[in-house]
Amino acid sequence: MNRERRKIVVTSALPYANGDIHIGHLVEYLQTDFWVRFQKLRGNDCVYVCADDTHGTPVMIRARKEGISPEELIARTHAIHLKDFTDFQVAFDNYYSTNSPENKAFSEQFFAAMEKSGGITRRTAPQLYCEHCRMFLPDRFVKGTCPKCGAEGQYGDSCDHCGSTYAAEELGSPKCTTCGGTPVVKDSEHLYFELEPQHEYLEKWIPAHTTSDVSNKLLEWFREPLRGWCISRDAPYFGFEIPGHKGKFFYVWVDAPIGYLASLKNWCGRNGQKFEDWWQDPKVERYHFIGKDIIRFHCLFWPGMLHVAGFEQPDKIFVHGFLTVNGEKMSKSKGTFVNARTYLDHLPPEALRYYYAAKLGPTTDDMDLNLADFVQRVNSDLVGKITNIASRSAQMLQKKLGGTLATLAGHDEELALLKQLRDGGEAVARHYEDRRFNQAVVEICRLADAANEYFDRKEPWKTVKTDAEATRVILTAALNAFRILAIYLKPILPVYADKAMKLFGESEWTWDSRDAAVEGIALGEYEYLASRIDSKQVEAMVAAATVKPADSGEVAHESRASKNKGERGTGNGELGTVVSPLKAEVAFPDFEKLDLRVGVVESCETVPKSSKLLKFVLDAGALGKRTIFSGIRAAYPEPEKLVGREVVFVANLAPRKMSVGVSEGMILFAGEPGKGGGALSPSSPAGAGTEVT
Ligand code: MSP
Ligand code: ZN
Repeated sequence: MNRERRKIVVTSALPYANGDIHIGHLVEYLQTDFWVRFQKLRGNDCVYVCADDTHGTPVMIRARKEGISPEELIARTHAIHLKDFTDFQVAFDNYYSTNSPENKAFSEQFFAAMEKSGGITRRTAPQLYCEHCRMFLPDRFVKGTCPKCGAEGQYGDSCDHCGSTYAAEELGSPKCTTCGGTPVVKDSEHLYFELEPQHEYLEKWIPAHTTSDVSNKLLEWFREPLRGWCISRDAPYFGFEIPGHKGKFFYVWVDAPIGYLASLKNWCGRNGQKFEDWWQDPKVERYHFIGKDIIRFHCLFWPGMLHVAGFEQPDKIFVHGFLTVNGEKMSKSKGTFVNARTYLDHLPPEALRYYYAAKLGPTTDDMDLNLADFVQRVNSDLVGKITNIASRSAQMLQKKLGGTLATLAGHDEELALLKQLRDGGEAVARHYEDRRFNQAVVEICRLADAANEYFDRKEPWKTVKTDAEATRVILTAALNAFRILAIYLKPILPVYADKAMKLFGESEWTWDSRDAAVEGIALGEYEYLASRIDSKQVEAMVAAATVKPADSGEVAHESRASKNKGERGTGNGELGTVVSPLKAEVAFPDFEKLDLRVGVVESCETVPKSSKLLKFVLDAGALGKRTIFSGIRAAYPEPEKLVGREVVFVANLAPRKMSVGVSEGMILFAGEPGKGGGALSPSSPAGAGTEVT
């Protein structure tokens, strides 16, 4: 069939490098993969690029806590993410990083163009600053009392209790979620990207590039002048420094979408292609797949940036909804916040790919993974309805009839069946193209019903005893029907389809391979294509994913669509609300045995090769100097700041010999927030027999 060969660039949103891929993310990466694989199967020239989104405060804080550099952290995450995706059969053409030379160059190019257009302004705004962490606090790194309703423990952007939004400085008794300290209000000058000059441009652009539900919502903002977007962050920040603005860094959401271009450029470089031929050529189609929580970044700021910088725009932004599990948002305590790896430890990737496809449509509606329905659908449709055609026919042909296929010429009923399946493919293709994956699966199942109806009516298990050649024809028709179904399923089940292809002795399938029939040859060996799944596997997965409330704290990302709360159902951001269990009661005489003294920190430094320890020298007055090793480094990224502080220490603890020296006592520190719930904790090294919070 002659179709025009299209050139298409496709992206999925870049996952944050500070966390694991979970089954919510997979709603996006799987559907993008289905679509890309469909385009490739149809013979189009399609490139699927993605990357880790590496910059921002959470990566920096997490690296500090682990005592490693941000670069080490993002390198580790990159490998883990890529393995998760690969094992889920997501086939990126390039999986890159936003912390790349290409991205730095593009970001600087964009900024220069934005400045040149007059779109960059400066404003000074008050902001919360933590003296201890020596950093300005992003909204999600401060908690306090809601200024509207008085609810405690609310983040710096909005209140979970009453839903109001506010500025972080308005919070009552704010606390830094990293160190627990009280931040101060400090002025800082920031750079803004003004969008109002593009009011009319964007007002036209949005409806032309998004679906009406998305654009209607966005266009509400256009009744008033568009507000400027703050694009700078103060040091310390893991990101790209802004040229000409020392100590200011690009906000992560500036270089994240630019990361699409950087990944594409990197792919071009490695494949002898010109970037301009892919991004700047108006004949190329470009699509971003994103979740509904990041609409404004992709449908407002991003086209604004591209426009000013003179880059081509994406053709469409495909927005999907959120994953719910058993009708509720994913929950760590219920075991439904399942990481990609945890899923793979218990279940085959094909099952989730099939189920998601069966549920996904082109709308922003949330999608439910009902675990009972999941088991049932996979077993009854993928295994019972589709795969069974192949396994029954292939095994009968091989065991009873020597494994050779018949020729179908002159067998009108069989030829009609195959024609029906081929004709049905047009609808399947239209559904794929329009991202109605659920409808594509319905259609494929309907065609499988026709094949099963034929098979059951012909009763080959009976005729095989009486008429070998008639049976060979039946099995050949059934197997060719299956072959067509497997071609249609290839975008969803690529590994499965490859095994099926080998059964027919073929080395490549395109969409049009369905037009041929495989006849007269010996069938290959039948490999298991898909097996039934058991609800016990699902139960084991849920058990493995269940987190006790005390461990479920996780660093939230500052970009959590700040003012769009409630759009995302990931249950993230429980930071600082965890309490560690109390130890057994201690009688007063036991407590009295401790000799607690005050000392002044004379020096404090990191210990080579240890990510946990700090070495303190205390001036203990009459007691002289004390050297104490303390496993508290994660909470004090800048140990020199502790010099001069008064601390309480246990003066009569037996000295403890450690590999790095002798520790002469124990300093009492407040626990790390999010881990110890503010309990005082002893300072001895973790693993040395004393618990460290
Ligand atoms: N780093 C940003 C994207 C930058 S793109 C220039 C980000 N990362 S993310 O890891 O939080 O999310 C990546 C994608 O996964 C987003 O499109 C997001 O909407 C999607 N999902 C994350 N959790 C999801 C669900 N629970 N359900 C469906 N999609 C989800 O945002
Ligand atoms: Zn702090």
